[in-house]
Amino acid sequence: MSEPLIEVEELTKYYGKHRGIIDLSFSVSEGEVFGYLGPNGAGKTTTIRTILDLIRPTDGKAWVFGRDAHLDGEEIRENIGYLPGELSLFDDMTGVETLKYLANIRSGVDWDFVDELGERLQADLDQDMAELSSGNKQKIGLIQAFMNRPSLLILDEPTSGLDPLMQQEFFKLIEEARKNGQTAFVSSHILPVVERLCNRVGIIREGKLVAVEEIDDLKAGVLRSLEIHFAGAPPRERFENLLGVEEVVLEENRLRCKVVGELDDLVKEAARYEVVNVISHEPNLEEIFLKYYESEGQEAMEGGPNNA
Ligand SMILES: Nc1ncnc2c1ncn2[C@@H]1O[C@H](COP(=O)(O)OP(=O)(O)OP(=O)(O)O)[C@@H](O)[C@H]1O
Ligand SMILES: [Mg+2]
Repeated sequence: MSEPLIEVEELTKYYGKHRGIIDLSFSVSEGEVFGYLGPNGAGKTTTIRTILDLIRPTDGKAWVFGRDAHLDGEEIRENIGYLPGELSLFDDMTGVETLKYLANIRSGVDWDFVDELGERLQADLDQDMAELSSGNKQKIGLIQAFMNRPSLLILDEPTSGLDPLMQQEFFKLIEEARKNGQTAFVSSHILPVVERLCNRVGIIREGKLVAVEEIDDLKAGVLRSLEIHFAGAPPRERFENLLGVEEVVLEENRLRCKVVGELDDLVKEAARYEVVNVISHEPNLEEIFLKYYESEGQEAMEGGPNNA
């Protein structure tokens, strides 16, 4: 089996007394799109910055491309497409100047591909970075991360600031990178983004890794709130005994319920009546965390992250 592209072992970072990340161990294999999911302040950026050796861990170690993240940091970074959480270095340069500057540092930039990325993301390359909206700045950040088709992409909240159309374009870029054999580590606090993109996901909360799961296993356990609006009220009882469907409430023509796992049964039943609208509410990350604490049982409640 090939060596993992990223490996961290008992990685810990304290900022003074303040918790950053605690005792993280996981690895990312070649060709994976690995999601790193957690709410604000969970420790996603800290993990990424430690892996890239932009900050030093308090304890533990990281390896990238099988090499020591600290000893070989510079060379490792040259071979990574990195999108930082905030791209703030180049305020008085335009987008294109920023990209040219970065292309000189990194090898293998294909300018036809830069142009293509610029067009696909509808990036404004001629305005000063400082004058760009956060979404348009993010596009420059994405272009520089992808522009030399690096074997490893590390993207910190890549969809932040992107409108839905641009998010779709970004999803396509990741899909293409995957087909191209590139590996990606993608942090996000948005479950649907991770679900859409990743094979596996690490879930982080309050600095600790709650779980590392195959995406299908994660999806199978997620409780979704769904609202279906019908042209006329359907019979409520038809929806009550469907597989995975809970807490069915019918108010006039609107059916609200919670669904675990596959939506198939519910959708097929709904399709027997005239559907006007379907609204799916993004699951709350706290609900996902609860699932893990529940499945770990009493032991986890006693010795788990809440009581550390
Ligand atoms: N430079 C710093 N000095 C002190 N504490 C810090 C510093 N950077 C991060 N922290 C703390 O470390 C913890 C993890 O922060 P981090 O930025 O890694 O979270 P995150 O998951 O990236 O959050 P977000 O989704 O908001 O980007 C937080 O409690 C934060 O307050
Ligand atoms: Mg962050």
